[in-house]
Amino acid sequence: MRCQAMAGSSQLLRCFLLSVSWNCLPGSAELYADSYDLLMEPVEDILDEHEHCGWGNPLDLTVKATTSSSFEEFIEMREDDCGNRVLMMGGFLQCHSVDEHLYHEMMVHPAFTAFQLQAGRGPETIFLGGSGDGAGPREVLRWRSVRNVTMVDIDYEVTRFSLEWMPTLSNGSFKDPRLKVVTGDAMAFLQELPEETAFDVLIMDFPDVADSQVLEKLYSEDFYRLCRRHMHAASVLAVQTGPCSQTTRAGYKARCQMLQQSILPNIAKVFQEAEVLLHPMATWKVDRKFPSEWSSFTLARLSSEELDYSREVWREHIDGELRSPHPIVPDMASMCFTAGEGNNLRQGIHASEDCHFGGVFP
Ligand SMILES: *[C@@H]1O[C@H](CO)[C@@H](O)[C@H](O)[C@H]1NC(C)=O
Ligand SMILES: *[C@@H]1O[C@H](CO)[C@@H](O)[C@H](O)[C@H]1NC(C)=O
Repeated sequence: MRCQAMAGSSQLLRCFLLSVSWNCLPGSAELYADSYDLLMEPVEDILDEHEHCGWGNPLDLTVKATTSSSFEEFIEMREDDCGNRVLMMGGFLQCHSVDEHLYHEMMVHPAFTAFQLQAGRGPETIFLGGSGDGAGPREVLRWRSVRNVTMVDIDYEVTRFSLEWMPTLSNGSFKDPRLKVVTGDAMAFLQELPEETAFDVLIMDFPDVADSQVLEKLYSEDFYRLCRRHMHAASVLAVQTGPCSQTTRAGYKARCQMLQQSILPNIAKVFQEAEVLLHPMATWKVDRKFPSEWSSFTLARLSSEELDYSREVWREHIDGELRSPHPIVPDMASMCFTAGEGNNLRQGIHASEDCHFGGVFP
């Protein structure tokens, strides 16, 4: 394991998981802690501001509206004690209006940054799997370079319901002529697409695989092979890879069950490069006492070129600021590790079962 500081306004820690060595460069403990603080700061602010909002068990929040579809029996809009809306599906929290921007900015802008760095231009054609609540397209469409977004979500009821009860999520993006919404199965859609159709960036924003068995195929080796078929040399694939727990400032091993047990091994069968980005959420916790769960996204690409994520290339492409105070990769990806190098992704993952973020910590 090799940890390295990257230049930039904030110093970054990147750990490259190699099968050969687990030693980190000296100084990585402080870098790790700095990165951790940077990522936690906005989350702490959110927690302080909303202390009185009654964020306990999401299942105790007040139900404002419910619906169901042929895919999901329980789609609910709940509200916390401060009137903030919370979208839930099958009893699982999907989107809390107070911190969903942390998640969605992380899902889109690092992947787009990676594309710009590799291709030397902003991404134009985007595939978006899932994301029916509309927040994914909202962030994607902020990039002026984007010309064509194909969003395939299986359940239009989620879109309709979100538009009615939480319109801030999509913020008008369903009216943007660049967005084409297809109601259907993302896997079937990609299978039917002519092989030569390649997207600059593909984003897979599906619910956690644990939420439902039918989602398994969307995290499978076959699915990643299919994605790869619709990528060109500079394309980037970004995948929502589930929550991580036990991420602490002292660098204890982060447990990212979905990611480690199934998704990353499957991605590794298809791609040689993958980078995992972690960032904390504010609302993914049952009680203030508990550390929040972290969210993870994995970026897969065909090139092994090392990218300097600390460059804020998004500034040339979008108007205004990102909503997280420390947006984009310099902070949000500062907890990233690269799972292997060259041909070693598979071995790297194997070894990573023992990886503590930051590596040198007990
Ligand atoms: C947008 O992408 C879809 C799906 O690949 C394609 O069918 C359509 O022709 C594209 N439209 C434009 C304007 O490029
Ligand atoms: C929502 O849309 C308005 C008008 O286009 C824009 O000014 C604002 O920045 C958008 N907000 C977000 C969070 O995307």
